Amino acid sequence: MSVRFCGIELAHPVINASGTFDAIAARRAFGDTLLEHFPFAAFVSKTVTLAPRQGNPPPRLWELPGGMLNSIGLPNKGLDGYLAHDLPELARLPVPLIINVMGFSRREVGELVSAFAERDEVAALELNLSCPNVECGLVMGADPHETAALLEHVRPLTGKPLIAKLTPNASDVPAVARAAADGGADAVSLINTLRGMALDPDTGEPWLGGITGGMSGPAVSAIALAQVHAVSSAIDLPVVGMGGVSSGRDAYDLLQAGADLVAVGTASFRDPAAGARVAAELAELLSGSASASPQPGEAADGRECARRVSRS
Ligand SMILES: Cc1cc2nc3c(=O)[nH]c(=O)nc-3n(C[C@H](O)[C@H](O)[C@H](O)COP(=O)(O)O)c2cc1C
Repeated sequence: MSVRFCGIELAHPVINASGTFDAIAARRAFGDTLLEHFPFAAFVSKTVTLAPRQGNPPPRLWELPGGMLNSIGLPNKGLDGYLAHDLPELARLPVPLIINVMGFSRREVGELVSAFAERDEVAALELNLSCPNVECGLVMGADPHETAALLEHVRPLTGKPLIAKLTPNASDVPAVARAAADGGADAVSLINTLRGMALDPDTGEPWLGGITGGMSGPAVSAIALAQVHAVSSAIDLPVVGMGGVSSGRDAYDLLQAGADLVAVGTASFRDPAAGARVAAELAELLSGSASASPQPGEAADGRECARRVSRS
């Protein structure tokens, strides 16, 4: 199950999706058991911004039949607070640390990348591209030129692997992925949440304090599969696939669609150990498919999937 991703050794290919597993709160709740049985092969932080953010007004969540909408609004302590309080705690985790950053201009993203570039605790950086550039009003990851310009700006600032986290709310996601690759990204991750809305059944008004929110969970898994397949066919970079993963089968499907790693997000809200269960189920599927005799179509794909995962 071990895998090498952008030069980082991982025990298995299952990591967390940014913003869906609070490792510091989990450590408080579960103590050292969390460190002994950490559910992910790497830990991805919630998005860090330059200035502290309160996040969106409540309500912030809405449950859907196959998932949920969130309008959390990226509350965080800001760069200085993060470096002083969160990073030292997260550095104690037994797995490589990936810091997810977002800025409202190229300069802001550059400052964040430069700050984390100097920290030995940080193995890689994930750039959350689902953010409007206040200088031009375009969402950075919705426009290939914006994406390329951002990557070209931050690439010289760090030798650490840069993972571009793509937004699914773009008309041509593979074109954005190509722009990220051309700009110097080492890997891409997808999908982030899809924009959605819920109405208060009593008033007919938007339920979420942020009016719209991000949709995630099992209901988005078919979209994730399609976008991971399209992006991994369009570029020659490692891909982190996510969107609705709640079982080893979901993870296996994303690997078959072209992902190199898989991230578990919304499923961790129901079960904080979901990541470990997904990894165990995936291991079983991969060992079964690696040793099975070929069946038309299916087993050959399974062996290829096992090969993708075990290559290092
Ligand atoms: C409550 C919540 C908070 C999230 N916060 C972030 C975040 O801070 N940064 C980010 O890049 N993605 C964030 N995401 C998106 C997830 O990382 C992931 O891309 C998305 O939820 C799809 O995966 P899933 O269906 O398994 O949840 C968040 C998702 C949820 C549900």
